[in-house]
Amino acid sequence: MKKLVVAIVAAILTFGACAQDKVNLPAPRKDAGMTLYQALQQRASVRDFKTDPVPDQTLSDLLWAARGINREDGRLTAPTAMNTQEIRVYVCRNDGAYEYIAKDNCLVKLSDKDLRKDVAAGQGNIGDAPMFLLLVADLNKYNRPGPRTATFGAVDCGYVSQNICLACEALGLSTVPRAMMDQETLKKELGLGEGMELLINHPVGYRK
Ligand SMILES: Cc1cc2nc3c(=O)[nH]c(=O)nc-3n(C[C@H](O)[C@H](O)[C@H](O)COP(=O)(O)O)c2cc1C
Repeated sequence: MKKLVVAIVAAILTFGACAQDKVNLPAPRKDAGMTLYQALQQRASVRDFKTDPVPDQTLSDLLWAARGINREDGRLTAPTAMNTQEIRVYVCRNDGAYEYIAKDNCLVKLSDKDLRKDVAAGQGNIGDAPMFLLLVADLNKYNRPGPRTATFGAVDCGYVSQNICLACEALGLSTVPRAMMDQETLKKELGLGEGMELLINHPVGYRK
């Protein structure tokens, strides 16, 4: 009886934490958008955004394209060196900052703060974008971190970034890959420690 009560209390606490800290995304639509060649034809950096929010369905479609799971063995839409899968994707929007967890198709909340200004870092009107995707290479996932694995991280980040560029076009969104951001504040707020390289961000929204 005691064990049952403990199990029920644990389940309630776990559910409560998840409900508060996790956003379950709708299943991604894997047939959204235009042809690859139309997306390539249209891809261009955009730096002026409407403030209109991006619906969670569209966000789910975009995150799946960025680095979602596309095979039964858990491999991803983006290649990674030795299938290390070291690129982590974070979402910053007005209701807080999250990490995208592909296997659960959800966002796990890391901060209640709106960090978009810290990502925009004062560049033009880019801070108007309703959200930013941040790409982090977790070099700790390599057995022997070093200059070679840092290169792998940067290359692998580029694949995810290009997936985002093309998927944005296909979904009627706009973006620009950016290296500029307030690294120090973002690393602190997102809890990025040693070996977690914050490489690129993407404002995402509807073109003004
Ligand atoms: C690694 C990298 C870093 C970039 N950083 C920034 C940036 O901080 N701010 C910005 O406005 N654009 C940035 N860009 C976008 C480039 O300026 C843009 O891709 C380039 O001018 C070519 O324009 P296009 O993307 O429209 O073809 C970056 C692009 C790359 C690939």
